[in-house]
Amino acid sequence: MRILTGLQPSGKLHIGNYFGAMEPAIRLQSQGDAYYFIANYHAMTSLHNGPELLANTRELAIDFLACGLDPEKAVFFRQSDVPEVNELAWILSTVCPMGLLERCHSYKDKVAKGLSANHALFAYPVLMAADILLYDSNLVPVGKDQKQHLEVTRDLAVKINEALGEGTLIVPEPMIRDDSAVVPGIDGLKMSKSYHNTIPMFGEEKPLRKTIMKIVSDSTPVEEPKPVEDSTILALYKLFVSPSEYQSMVDSFQAGGFGYGHYKTQLWEAYWNYFAPMRARREEILAEPGYVDEVLRKGAERARETASHVLQRIRKATGLSA
Ligand code: ADP
Ligand code: TRP
Repeated sequence: MRILTGLQPSGKLHIGNYFGAMEPAIRLQSQGDAYYFIANYHAMTSLHNGPELLANTRELAIDFLACGLDPEKAVFFRQSDVPEVNELAWILSTVCPMGLLERCHSYKDKVAKGLSANHALFAYPVLMAADILLYDSNLVPVGKDQKQHLEVTRDLAVKINEALGEGTLIVPEPMIRDDSAVVPGIDGLKMSKSYHNTIPMFGEEKPLRKTIMKIVSDSTPVEEPKPVEDSTILALYKLFVSPSEYQSMVDSFQAGGFGYGHYKTQLWEAYWNYFAPMRARREEILAEPGYVDEVLRKGAERARETASHVLQRIRKATGLSA
């Protein structure tokens, strides 16, 4: 069973990314043949600053490793280290109807937000399909926002198989994380860098503490019971503590007698402790020169080996090679 997923290197990681994408990927790395990559070609659809893309890519690699990605278990690589993916994207685009891409929400949303409608943004799902199909992936864990891209991927795989012969490509299964896993930001809306409401995973203690103390709460007086429904503090606290610790905060909310500052301090401590091992691992990684480069070099080598086998099979089917 091959499990594959990609993450875009698009800036500082926040705890929504951690609980929504990285932690599930790390849990899955022991359950199959995991391929995880940094989607730097995809990031170019919105970033044209070389030093920034390079720095973001490196940062994501460091953070993913610090979070527990085990390069012995998972093949961890940069998308652009296997440029063969572009050849497969071209092959897929020859069977891809325009209408299929025109219907993609992600493209329409990005254009509506003011991103210029360049070809790469339009063709994004084709490259994503190539990412998946190039490694004979069986299972692709993604957030709900990527569901349609997985449907495009399956469509394209089926079309290629119809045109060039069954078994040319493996049709993957999506594994869509449910919505209950949405982490709220400090304003109570979905945490997202585009809403500027994030709690970063890593950073300096003081500003991070300040961010958590800024979480929006209501104006219930100190002595009164606090509403537990839709409480951002409780929703976040739940991520970091045991069910019984969570329950005692709920009980305390309902009993009244404490102000929100008290709970935010508790949340801060839980958050800070939760990520302590990852922070320590991150420091170790940073202190070991060449470690990240070596992991990515080895990952690229392994990824390329798989990719070249699959691509050879596809090239034969297309008639590009004998
Ligand atoms: P952002 O919304 O900050 O731009 P991305 O869209 O780059 O984040 O998300 C990268 C991954 O993190 C995706 O798999 C997405 O599902 C997950 N993710 C992002 N924000 C959250 C959140 N608030 N709760 C759960 N998962 C999230
Ligand atoms: N589009 C995905 C996202 O923004 C990232 C991605 C690129 C991806 N290629 C992929 C995810 C292949 C899964 C499989 O989150």
